[in-house]
Amino acid sequence: MTIQEEIVAAGLPEHVAIIMDGNGRWAQQRGLGREYGHQAGVNTVKRVVEAAGEIGLKYLTLYTFSIENWNRPQAEVRALMGLMAEAIVRETPELMRQNVRVRVIGHTTDLPEEVWRKMSGLIEQTADNRGVNLILALSYGARWEILEAAKRLARDYKEGRILNMEDITETDFAGHLTTGGIPDPDLLVRTSGEYRLSNFLLWQCAYTEFYFLDKFWPDFQKEDLYLAIHNYQNRERRFGMTGEQVVNK
Ligand code: IPE
Ligand code: IPE
Ligand code: MG
Repeated sequence: MTIQEEIVAAGLPEHVAIIMDGNGRWAQQRGLGREYGHQAGVNTVKRVVEAAGEIGLKYLTLYTFSIENWNRPQAEVRALMGLMAEAIVRETPELMRQNVRVRVIGHTTDLPEEVWRKMSGLIEQTADNRGVNLILALSYGARWEILEAAKRLARDYKEGRILNMEDITETDFAGHLTTGGIPDPDLLVRTSGEYRLSNFLLWQCAYTEFYFLDKFWPDFQKEDLYLAIHNYQNRERRFGMTGEQVVNK
């Protein structure tokens, strides 16, 4: 059996999230400008989305641009936005062919108008697709998201849509996050040898399994995704219980 067949047979995680990191260093190592790394990173995105479709993954979330990334040099931000606008247009037919449904989570009103217009078009066009749910975290920050959810709940309470504050459940709260309706990630992968969350899915990763690898994002292959999933499949998720409880469940 190939590793691909093996991981499918073992039962896939429902949701894999990836922090795509290391584009800049990949380019710098080659004496190139950081934007070349981002360009190479787009190809990895294509590979990984295709890989997800091939194994039949339901949800794939990609950390594409953080709220903090707005603080990068303007030229780099501009290059990234340009690459995104281009990629949306160029990849739409292929995403349709692969039956991918695209969604975006994040503070999207900060995006350049052209990028958001194109992205909205892609979201709409792919809305009925039933293959991989590709969730792009764009201008995303977990603290921003959690604070927004808290504000919305406070508003609901003030305006009488919630009568008793004590009735608010974790499920209600989660439903107010940008990921409402999307299951929590089972597995989170981060490339480039950094071991941190960088303000990504803080609420949703409460019981997520983490997998870190040293490769820079442009070097990440389909096989690396399969290896990450394989590694995940050999773990025991205990959710606070004892190993015996989990085994006997
Ligand atoms: C990830 O690569 C892409 C984005 C954050 C937009 P980086 O640009 O962070 O690359 P490094 O980490 O500086 O190498
Ligand atoms: C996290 O990477 C954001 C994305 C991958 C989009 P960063 O490169 O921005 O994270 P830090 O700054 O190293 O924590
Ligand atoms: Mg980085």
